Amino acid sequence: GKGNFRHFMEKELHEHPAVLGDTLRRMISPSSRAVALPPLPFDLAGVPRVTISACGSAFYAGMVARTWFEQVARIPADGDVASEFRYRTPPLPEGGLALLVSQSGETADTLAALRYMREQRQHVLSVLNVPESSMARESDVVLETVAGPEIGVASTKAFTAQLAVMACLALAAGRARGSISAAQEAAMTASLLEVPSRAAEVLEHDEHIQRIAARIAEARDVLYLGRGSCFPIAMEGALKLKEISYIHAEGYAAGEMKHGPIALIDRNVPVIAIVPSGPLFEKTASNLQEAAARGGQVIVFSDAAGAAKLKGIAVETVVLPRVDPFVAPILYAIPVQLLAYHVAVLKGTDVDQPRNLAKSVTVE
Ligand code: M6R
Repeated sequence: GKGNFRHFMEKELHEHPAVLGDTLRRMISPSSRAVALPPLPFDLAGVPRVTISACGSAFYAGMVARTWFEQVARIPADGDVASEFRYRTPPLPEGGLALLVSQSGETADTLAALRYMREQRQHVLSVLNVPESSMARESDVVLETVAGPEIGVASTKAFTAQLAVMACLALAAGRARGSISAAQEAAMTASLLEVPSRAAEVLEHDEHIQRIAARIAEARDVLYLGRGSCFPIAMEGALKLKEISYIHAEGYAAGEMKHGPIALIDRNVPVIAIVPSGPLFEKTASNLQEAAARGGQVIVFSDAAGAAKLKGIAVETVVLPRVDPFVAPILYAIPVQLLAYHVAVLKGTDVDQPRNLAKSVTVE
């Protein structure tokens, strides 16, 4: 049941800390601070490329993981939504890693992408929340997200659990390929193991996010901006808002804003920035200056240092805990999901069963 929560989505949002803890504890040895994955039937060191395919939120999780494979493991990585991927039929180098991501393990297009990857002689690894699913049966290896049943149609805790699993996979690949040292791995697993308690701190911002939701609920269009590993979090925020509040939203790469969407910005278009401190902060900050200069109502999700730098331009700032930029996308997913939830509640929509949507899309 929902316990004391109004909706399954609200309950599931509050499960982020526990789910992240359960998922990470299975993959990181607390004593050695090393990633310990279940045995893989192939060698990560020999993989020429990672090809990622999934749908919806699971795809955005995969796009965060792409940045980790490239930057942490230094493996060429790319991907596409499964409905496109399966018909693009891209040629893939033999022995590559096919990475499929799905909460249900039943999504028709993702299953078709999996089958195509197998024909292309890839090693098929799926990140799944339902270990007895169709995709599980057809994979060489399954890495489980230990999120428990997710009832709300909008994916929440499964998404952050997918990120946690793929962060560990990227670290394991980095170690296998020698692109990170044991000390770096230990530092990165330490930041990962901190995420559950930081996630609990993020949930304490619930009331503030609820106040921001009142502003968003009036809008017709909302723009979410992020860069690097937080660009997919901007897309996740926009998708969540669309699907449960029915407000039009777009997630954009912050640097791409001036190539078009900036034309939309005026006082009535909230601009939500996913902008943790890190190597890309200043770049996004200057894009936000441009948005603010055109009257955009900039709402910032950052940490204390970032918030201080953006004080002059933000109409609202949610100050999140400072974390290693490597884990920031996991943490920053939570407040954007929470914001969508509160906007939907204010709009009075059917939060757990939004119109026209199914929890698991088993037809293409
Ligand atoms: O079960 P899957 O993870 O394969 O589902 C993929 C998408 O249908 C799913 O993430 C969808 O986009 C959610 N409604 C997003 O909240």
